[in-house]
Amino acid sequence: MIGCKGERFVVERHLKDRHFLMSNTPRIRKISSRPAQFLVDNIKLLPEGRVFDVAMGTGRNAVYLAKMGFNVEGVDISSKAVSDALELALKAGVAIRAETADLEAQYNIKRNSYDVIICFYYLQRSLIAQIKDGLKEGGVVVYETYIVDQAKFGRPKNSNYLLGHNELLDMFRDFRCLHYSEGIMEDRKAIASIVAEKV
Ligand SMILES: C[S@@+](CC[C@H](N)C(=O)[O-])C[C@H]1O[C@@H](n2cnc3c(N)ncnc32)[C@H](O)[C@@H]1O
Repeated sequence: MIGCKGERFVVERHLKDRHFLMSNTPRIRKISSRPAQFLVDNIKLLPEGRVFDVAMGTGRNAVYLAKMGFNVEGVDISSKAVSDALELALKAGVAIRAETADLEAQYNIKRNSYDVIICFYYLQRSLIAQIKDGLKEGGVVVYETYIVDQAKFGRPKNSNYLLGHNELLDMFRDFRCLHYSEGIMEDRKAIASIVAEKV
């Protein structure tokens, strides 16, 4: 269980070194809660049901989807981020499941389990096959992250973490593309974004 003051967290279940937690405590600190605009803009394309948020950070997107009626789980390597995500959910009056785990350490997304998988601003190419397998047929992926042109605006600069041109589109060629955009946005960031359905 994560360390806590007073009535903090309820442990939902343990899986080896992973912890699924639900939150139960107010704190004062402010956590950024504004969901990604691309997710908000495309919410109507998402089938109802179970969502997995890859590298969820402090939960802005997970909490938004929970508020929209989805059953949301997420993972992040940072226990602090996971704790903040649970706190954000608590403040929003919704329940999410948040797991602390390293996606690069032989992590397994549950196969054929999710209606929606989202991934924002995290690129791990080795995970794409798992994201596809994790979706049910008819399930939808929403993915947005930086492309190579981002290096001229700031971080990340390491090409391992930057998509090539059209790379995101190519990654999901075997899916039905419902929405794709790529380029420099507002003269300050270079990103690619996709919504695609597993067929
Ligand atoms: C730029 S943040 C994006 C967070 C969130 N998706 C969002 O858009 O608000 C990238 C996140 O990836 C997480 N991360 C980095 N490496 C990871 C790993 N190996 N396994 C799981 N999460 C990781 C970081 O802790 C961080 O929260």
